[in-house]
Amino acid sequence: MSAPLAGRAALITGASRGIGLAIARSLGAAGAHLTLIARDAKSLNARATELGARALSGDLGSPRDIERLIATINDDATAPDILVNNAGLFQLAPVDATSPEALAAAIEVNLVAPFRLIRALLPVMRSRGRGDIVNIGSIADHMAFPENAAYGASKHGLRALHDVMRAELRGTGVRVTLVSPGPVDTSLWDAIDPDSREGFTPRDRMLSADAVAAAVMYAITQPPEVDVELVRVSRS
Ligand SMILES: NC(=O)c1ccc[n+]([C@@H]2O[C@H](COP(=O)([O-])OP(=O)(O)OC[C@H]3O[C@@H](n4cnc5c(N)ncnc54)[C@H](OP(=O)(O)O)[C@@H]3O)[C@@H](O)[C@H]2O)c1
Repeated sequence: MSAPLAGRAALITGASRGIGLAIARSLGAAGAHLTLIARDAKSLNARATELGARALSGDLGSPRDIERLIATINDDATAPDILVNNAGLFQLAPVDATSPEALAAAIEVNLVAPFRLIRALLPVMRSRGRGDIVNIGSIADHMAFPENAAYGASKHGLRALHDVMRAELRGTGVRVTLVSPGPVDTSLWDAIDPDSREGFTPRDRMLSADAVAAAVMYAITQPPEVDVELVRVSRS
């Protein structure tokens, strides 16, 4: 079996279920050494054991937790050369029912946490002249939907960060990819029950998490001279 990611180390956030777990499985099967992050240590440890991965539990909404995670991860010899910023906070509410705290929480997890991790890992990637940073955006990073004030603002912000990094990193050997999926059938939808709500994609018409993982794999397994800037994935 070919192992296109043998010798590479990947850090994947939100990897205990859903899209992050599918990404972890794909990258692990391709030979990458995995470090997985999520809040719930029990389910994270179970998935990590399954995949032979390192599990680091922590809340990406907490700057203090992120500092602790970075201190564990960022060792020059073993620091990841693949970072997948996947963990995300998704809640629906009209603008006037969105509290400033809810907006701040979405921005903290969906934008500031990726920024903190990128900032911590980029110097080593730059000095090695090699690295892949994949940010999981959303259709909501470029389209507006009702009740998406907090989520849409955070994902638009993530896309802006991505665009700035592309401008800064061209030619350094560090590649940045934004993967923007449409609706994906994961536990993110459990509390919303889209099947019972008008205007929402029914779960059996959503993408699979594996389809998003395949997009990530496509981007990071290209030859060094090929940069996959943006992958927008939707159900055909
Ligand atoms: N599902 C969709 O329709 C869809 C579409 C477009 C984009 N996306 C994006 O894809 C990404 C993954 O979504 P998903 O559908 O796979 O979600 P999911 O099924 O809810 O899984 C979320 C993962 O992130 C972890 N996580 C959540 N909040 C965290 C925090 N504060 N700190 C650390 N880990 C945290 C969760 O574990 P713990 O709960 O244990 O922390 C879990 O492993 C998100 O960025 C989402 O915005 C999803």
